[in-house]
Amino acid sequence: MDILVTRRLTLRPPLEVDGDALFEALSNTNITRNLGTPPFPYLREHADEWVDKNRDGKNGCVYTIHRERLIGSVSVHNASIDGEAPVLGYWLDEPCWGKGYMTEATRAVIARAFRHYNTATIRSYAQVGNIGSLKVMDNLGFERSGKGSAFNAVRNEEVPIVHTTLQRSTFEQMFGSLETNEAA
Ligand SMILES: CC(C)(COP(=O)(O)OP(=O)(O)OC[C@H]1O[C@@H](n2cnc3c(N)ncnc32)[C@H](O)[C@@H]1OP(=O)(O)O)[C@@H](O)C(=O)NCCC(=O)NCCS
Repeated sequence: MDILVTRRLTLRPPLEVDGDALFEALSNTNITRNLGTPPFPYLREHADEWVDKNRDGKNGCVYTIHRERLIGSVSVHNASIDGEAPVLGYWLDEPCWGKGYMTEATRAVIARAFRHYNTATIRSYAQVGNIGSLKVMDNLGFERSGKGSAFNAVRNEEVPIVHTTLQRSTFEQMFGSLETNEAA
């Protein structure tokens, strides 16, 4: 199994046993009101469907984050349109916010994803005003690359978003060469 270990966290591909923890965390709309993909209301079966779709690395670099228990998820999915850069997404269970965990987790997954996709660029986005998420991206070297909108199921409306882009060269300048594993 593809396991990433950081200073404080363990990341691994989703497993069937994660269903209850995913359901519990993603029932919190303080989390899902900032996300683009989870359905709302979030049902227990949605957690199982997500695990099934993302297990065994079959849908790109998708990991659950663990620190004694499941505390979140980070993914870098292949772009839905050919030629577009893969897309980073993430969330963390609310009691774990503000401890630097997501900066730590995303850094490890991005290092993995640049190699996995052999890409020069990774994209992401955040809702305008999601200061914490944009700060996580700043910490990794992402730059703002435009504005747009995306549907959010909790808010039941299109919300303004900021598109961001990370160049592999910037990431390597900040964290070291991916060839020599320094950045991992
Ligand atoms: C956004 C989120 C992933 C941040 O995770 P986190 O582990 O708390 O982030 P970190 O602790 O690594 O914080 C990174 C930086 O952002 C700052 N930050 C975090 N949350 C913040 C907030 N709400 N307001 C202002 N700054 C914040 C931290 O102080 C830290 O700053 P520093 O690097 O200068 O020390 C988490 O709040 C979350 O899951 N939110 C709900 C889902 C979500 O928004 N997902 C992202 C969708 S784009």
